[in-house]
Amino acid sequence: MMVSPTQRDLSVDLFGMRLPTPLFMAPVGVLGLCAQDGHGDLATARAAARIGVPMIASTLTVDPMEQVAAEFGDTPGFFQLYTPTDREVAESLVHRAEAAGFKGIVVTLDTWIPGWRPRDLTASNFPQLRGHCLTNYTSDPVFRSRLAKAPEDDPTAAVMHWTKIFGNPLTWDDLSWLRSITNLPLILKGICHPDDVRRAKDGGVDGIYCSNHGGRQANGGFPALNALPEVVEAADCLPVLFDSGVRTGADIIKALALGATAVGIGRPYLYGLTLAGADGVVHVLRSLLAEADLLMAVDGYPTLADLTPDALRRLT
Ligand SMILES: Cc1cc2nc3c(=O)[nH]c(=O)nc-3n(C[C@H](O)[C@H](O)[C@H](O)COP(=O)(O)O)c2cc1C
Repeated sequence: MMVSPTQRDLSVDLFGMRLPTPLFMAPVGVLGLCAQDGHGDLATARAAARIGVPMIASTLTVDPMEQVAAEFGDTPGFFQLYTPTDREVAESLVHRAEAAGFKGIVVTLDTWIPGWRPRDLTASNFPQLRGHCLTNYTSDPVFRSRLAKAPEDDPTAAVMHWTKIFGNPLTWDDLSWLRSITNLPLILKGICHPDDVRRAKDGGVDGIYCSNHGGRQANGGFPALNALPEVVEAADCLPVLFDSGVRTGADIIKALALGATAVGIGRPYLYGLTLAGADGVVHVLRSLLAEADLLMAVDGYPTLADLTPDALRRLT
């Protein structure tokens, strides 16, 4: 009390860029299908341009990454790579992302195989098997070169080929190759253990992304937030991105106080997109930011640097 910060600064430095807020939109494959017009990736990219909150575009978009990136305006965007087993396809995707102007490559580690998802199984929900959200592959010259016929002429064969190369059981031995294929910041997503942070650092990554995939992979795992303090400590000087379960401005503040450099939102912006397109995404993000900003005000924190673990008390 008696700090009363009438001005708050929520801006952060990330990979040499100054961002107006510590929020970002986590990669969500099938995002494209969630908009009423079937182009949710473009709507989300437009929302990113309007509100200055970066989007991490999934590999699994409806519209190709080049068209998504073209909507970012002045807001930086990141490309999330589901690493195909075919290394040349992986490299082609990464090089296209570089050419399209993405500012970093986020490699997701925790979903080389989907977890047990009863509701998806009950509803037979796997849009990719119906040919959806595969445009980054079907527009890729290397992927296309692997097919006997163009995907337009034989979509089933393209989907079948995709199923063969999608899930790559990466090991730490693959990291030097991943590091070698791009000069963009390389961020590993899905890390919740400090030993993995140390291995990632040894392999020359630029950022750690602490996440349990929104609890969608390992059932019964602990909340990613519980892992965050140890991840931050092991990451040392490296930036730590965080997501999973962030639903309020207060959640954002807690993650920042525990050392996250930036905080990702998954499902909440998807709900906004589904209801109201880009306007809905902007509304959700604005509401979260307003609550975070007001919390900083009422608790007396002028800048994010003032938010340290001291800001939190564990209630037993
Ligand atoms: C429908 C859906 C699709 C997702 N697709 C991807 C994806 O393509 N790539 C990825 O790295 N993470 C994906 N995620 C995980 C998110 O990036 C993020 O880790 C998670 O949603 C964060 O948790 P939250 O939804 O509780 O905010 C997906 C999540 C959802 C809900």
